[in-house]
Amino acid sequence: MTEPRNIIIDTDPGQDDAVAILLALGSPELAVLGITAVAGNVPLALTEKNVRTICELADRSDIPVYAGAIRPLVRKLVTAEYVHGKTGLNGPVLPEPTMPLQEQHAVDFIVETLMAEAEKSVTLCVLGPLTNIALAMIREPKIVPRIAEIVLMGGGCFEGGNTTPAAEFNIYVDPHAAKIVFEAGVPITMFPLDVTHKALTTRKRVQEFRDMNTKAGTATAELLDFFERFDEVKYGTEGGPLHDPNVIAWLLKPELYSGRHINIEIETTSELTMGMTVADWWGVTDRPKNAFFVRNLDADGFYNLLIERIGTL
Ligand code: BDR
Ligand code: CA
Repeated sequence: MTEPRNIIIDTDPGQDDAVAILLALGSPELAVLGITAVAGNVPLALTEKNVRTICELADRSDIPVYAGAIRPLVRKLVTAEYVHGKTGLNGPVLPEPTMPLQEQHAVDFIVETLMAEAEKSVTLCVLGPLTNIALAMIREPKIVPRIAEIVLMGGGCFEGGNTTPAAEFNIYVDPHAAKIVFEAGVPITMFPLDVTHKALTTRKRVQEFRDMNTKAGTATAELLDFFERFDEVKYGTEGGPLHDPNVIAWLLKPELYSGRHINIEIETTSELTMGMTVADWWGVTDRPKNAFFVRNLDADGFYNLLIERIGTL
């Protein structure tokens, strides 16, 4: 096997973040150098704890976990307990984590790791608001050309927004951070709502996790059961969209996805469209192409991958 790919996961668990972390920890092609928490779905004190809970669920208390930004760069923190429940991980009953939180700040860990590892050997997988990543770029601009790639869940175009009519949650929560990251010149692959809304947690798919009869399989089924409840009503679909695990699945099986290199600009001035990812899908401007916008996936292939890998935990 070739050398595993170095990744840092930056996240705000969230049930779908949790499933993404499990997918990464079940995949030998990936070396998870650390997991950094950010405020988003729920406040930071809960997201960092939730990361540790999930690492322990996967029996990986060796993974270093760091706490990062407590709030977005400019705006007030907006959370999403109405989707994820009070803890962010409502659904399964999981033990309180006992593994420690690292003392180092997440932003310092990101900077230090990118400066220490070989140039372009670390991929940043971002599953929440982009606050920690923007702060790291501000703290040490020399990291920017050293990042191999940023793969993130965020934004939307044809699907519109899920938090406002114009904006998706991760970008809406910290649009100023998103603007810094999209303008940095780092290769970006983005998983907007346009693709994640096609990855539905149907009953049959969730049942396959339950049928594993393992700690991780049962917890995944219970996480998805809770998570889908809100979105099923909202979208009128069987099951809800499973967002964040697509970021990890892309690293493992990019052939499941298709998209286009386009220009993305982030709206940070109009309150009406705050956090909108203005996507030049049709190439009607000459603005530089700064992101690979993923629009389609093989949903069965995606769930087969999740089932295979979470089945190994
Ligand atoms: C994104 O927002 C959060 O609620 C999810 O974890 C995902 O990262 C979807 O808009
Ligand atoms: Ca998330």
